[in-house]
Amino acid sequence: MNLMSNSTVDPTLDLIAEIKRLRDEKNAVILAHYYQAAEIQDIADFVGDSLDLSRRAAETDAEVIVFCGVRFMAEVAKILSPEKTVVLPDMAAGCSLEDSCPPDEFEKFVKANPDHMVLSYINCSAAVKALTDIIVTSSNAEYILRQIPEEQKIIFAPDRHLGGFLSRKLDRDMLLWQGTCIVHELFSEKELIKLKAKYPNAPVLAHPECPEAIIQHADHAGSTSSILKFALESEAETLIIATEPGIIHQMEKAAPHKTFIGAPGADGNCNCNTCPYMALNTLQKLYLCLRDLGPEIDLDEDTRIAAEKPLRKMLEMSPTTGPAKDLSEIT
Ligand code: 13P
Ligand code: SF4
Repeated sequence: MNLMSNSTVDPTLDLIAEIKRLRDEKNAVILAHYYQAAEIQDIADFVGDSLDLSRRAAETDAEVIVFCGVRFMAEVAKILSPEKTVVLPDMAAGCSLEDSCPPDEFEKFVKANPDHMVLSYINCSAAVKALTDIIVTSSNAEYILRQIPEEQKIIFAPDRHLGGFLSRKLDRDMLLWQGTCIVHELFSEKELIKLKAKYPNAPVLAHPECPEAIIQHADHAGSTSSILKFALESEAETLIIATEPGIIHQMEKAAPHKTFIGAPGADGNCNCNTCPYMALNTLQKLYLCLRDLGPEIDLDEDTRIAAEKPLRKMLEMSPTTGPAKDLSEIT
C-alpha cells in the first residue's frame, strides 16, 4: 500500500482547475462524504452518506474513484468495484469505530457466539466485514433489522451507540460490540441543555452514533442524509445539529436563510467535534492523488470476496431509495 505522496505543489497552481482537468483526463469520479471540508464537497461529483456513496461506487462507469472520506469508505468502493482504481487523498484517514474492533478479537467473539447472526455497521475494516453476515449503515440499519426474524439472535458491531439506539427503538436485544466514535462521544449533554434553553424552538438533530444521553434530546435521530433532509424540510428557522459540523455546509448552501448551530462539546463549542480523520483530506492532497493515482486502496482478494458478500446483502435488503439519494431531490 502506497501510504504517502511526498510531492510538493507549486503554490501558484490553480488547484480547482487542475483537479477538474485531471478528473476528465483520467476518467475519474470524485465522491465525497458530508463531513469533508467545504471546498472538497464543492468540487465533488457527488456528496452523500455512507449508503449513497456505496451505491455510487458500485454503479459508476468511471475508471478511477477518488474517495474523499475515510479509508473504510474507500475500501467499500474497492470491494464493490474491484476492477477500478480507488484512491484516497490521505491513507491515514481512518475511523475510531474501525480501530475499536480489531478483526482477530472480533473473530473470537463471533466464534464464541455461533448461534448469532452478525450485523456490522459499515464503519469497520474489510477484515471485520469478511466476518459479517449483513452490513448496515445508519440510513438502512432499522429497515434491515426489521427484516430479520424476531427469534434470530444478533451480534451488532462495532458501534455500541448505534446498536443501543436500534435496540431501544425496535425493542430488540442484541449482543453489542463496545466500539464508539470519538467524535460523537464528545457532545456534552449539559452544554446541549443550555443551548436548548437559549433556543427553545430549535429542533435538535442527532446522529445515532451519539450516546443515548444526547439522543434523548433529539427531535430527529438518523443518518447524515436524513439529518440534512430534516433540516431542510423543517419549518424551524434555527436548528441544533449534533453530528460532525462538515454537514452544515450543505445546509447553509441549500437554506441560507436558516441558522444551523453545531451542538457543543464539553468546552461549550463544537470545534472538538470535527472528525480528525476526515480532516486529513485537503484540496492539495486531492489534487496529488488524482495526479499520481495514489495512495491507492489495495485489498487482499480473499478478504475482498468475503467482504463483498455482506455488502451485496446490504444493498439487496436496503430501501430502494435512501432518505436523500441525490441532493437535487431535496434542495
Ligand atoms: P452516515 O452514513 O450517516 O453518513 O455516517 C457516516 C459516519 O461516519 C458518521 O460518523
Ligand atoms: Fe469514524 Fe466518527 Fe469520523 Fe465517522 S465521525 S468517520 S464514525 S471517527
